Amino acid sequence: MQQKPQGILILDFGAQYTQLIARRVREAKVFCEVVPCSISMQEIQAKAPVGVILSGGPASVLDADAPRVDPALYDLGIPVLGICYGMQITAHTLGGVVEKAAEREYGRVPVTFDTQSPLFAGMKETSVMWMSHTYHVTQAPAGFSSIAHSENCAFCAMSHLQKRIYCVQFHPEVTHSEEGQVMLQNFLYRICGCTGDWTMTAFIDQAIEAIRAQVGEDGRVMLGLSGGVDSSVAAALISRAIGSRLTCVYVDHGFMRKGETESVREVFTGQFPVNLVVADARQRFLDRVAGISDPETKRKRIGAEFVACFADEARKLQNVTFLAQGTIYPDVIESGSVKGSAVIKSHHNVGGLPDDVARRFTGGVVEPLRMLFKDEVRRVGEELGLPHDMVWRQPFPGPGLAIRVIGEITPDKLAIVRESDAILREEIALAGLEGDINQYFTVLTNTRTVGVMGDERTHDYVLGIRAVTTDDFMTVDWARLPYDVLSKISARIVNEVPHVNRIVYDITTKPPATVEWE
Ligand code: XMP
Repeated sequence: MQQKPQGILILDFGAQYTQLIARRVREAKVFCEVVPCSISMQEIQAKAPVGVILSGGPASVLDADAPRVDPALYDLGIPVLGICYGMQITAHTLGGVVEKAAEREYGRVPVTFDTQSPLFAGMKETSVMWMSHTYHVTQAPAGFSSIAHSENCAFCAMSHLQKRIYCVQFHPEVTHSEEGQVMLQNFLYRICGCTGDWTMTAFIDQAIEAIRAQVGEDGRVMLGLSGGVDSSVAAALISRAIGSRLTCVYVDHGFMRKGETESVREVFTGQFPVNLVVADARQRFLDRVAGISDPETKRKRIGAEFVACFADEARKLQNVTFLAQGTIYPDVIESGSVKGSAVIKSHHNVGGLPDDVARRFTGGVVEPLRMLFKDEVRRVGEELGLPHDMVWRQPFPGPGLAIRVIGEITPDKLAIVRESDAILREEIALAGLEGDINQYFTVLTNTRTVGVMGDERTHDYVLGIRAVTTDDFMTVDWARLPYDVLSKISARIVNEVPHVNRIVYDITTKPPATVEWE
């Protein structure tokens, strides 16, 4: 039996940075879980964490309805790290004084540390940390002493050595904090005694055991395989655990990129054998979107058709009582709340399954990636040996190429985006730029312009190229593709793809534009 990894509990007081704290802890090879700040002491003890982190939050501890912590938390004998609101609530709960600061402190602030404190061991005496607060501690609770200060703040950090309670006013988790990660690692390794046992190899072994335990000796599982990273890694992992007792349903809606269906077929019949069902629904989807040009109607129809196809396939299967999904941790946690297990991955293209189908899955939901962040999912995929292209696949919208044909969809127009997209991908790879651009694709505009080919005038389509860089897809910049790469892409597309006589490059940021054109 594999040992459970050591775990840190992060109590979420609603900060926008809570997920980031969790990612930093994981990057330090320590498992952690985000839980609502209202968690009871019994629940905390049942999880037996090696440390607790209190996140920041938007409230003021002086407000009557501000979230609180049970004072018993500080007597559990588990080390505590309070960050921002987590520091203020600790001070407030244990009898210190929190007051509104004369001025809001925001941005990069030089902080001087007591490097004798285990929290700051090995750090420079003064370095820049990121601050964002209106309230601050002006008097520490009994037994606490200040271990860091800035020009405006006497208590940038405080600690109670015997009780192993540490608090910081700044945000070590953001990259603007110069030695924030060193500080977090000090908390994890020096104070909580973590050993760095959270590795993807260990995760895979535990996940395989957990899947086998959940589905039993002869349980059967169904999974909707989209070809995306999450569902592919989930399928590979479950295939390792139970082989062909896993049925993967891949709905080929005809809006996939060139070669994708073939690659899914190859991987999940070869290297990771499962019972693969490829539902050829290309005509069915084309019929469903015929004559539709409104983007939202397209999305809704495709989403509904997708569920209908999946449900049709599910109804054909006998004795399959478990539904597997590639749910990942960001789907499970949201700042300020931790969502329960959804019956179907909440996804803006797919609604819930029809009742009669949902009722078939009496065994429940199998979600082996539910505790992983995206980068961890990719590492699991690599560790399992999935093809590089599948593991590092760029984001691809659920409705696929359908929203990259502006306006009405026809098979000819789909062929134009599919072929041009393949050329674009090929040239980006040849130029070695795959790792530098987060998403890139072609869009068939609904506009035709005049061109000339030989002695003939043409009247053909304008094709757009979009390539963006981003951290989170909330804001994006357009990629500065080298001119010679753009030039080669343009020449190849107009030469090789019929009915395109003009190429434009999209040089808009988001906002105000979005990534997709529809
Ligand atoms: P936008 O266009 O909203 O895109 O800036 C942000 C990211 O989301 C993807 N996207 C979608 N994904 N279904 C999806 O599953 C959709 O309808 C959809 N629309 C946009 C887009 O590709 C980008 O990665």
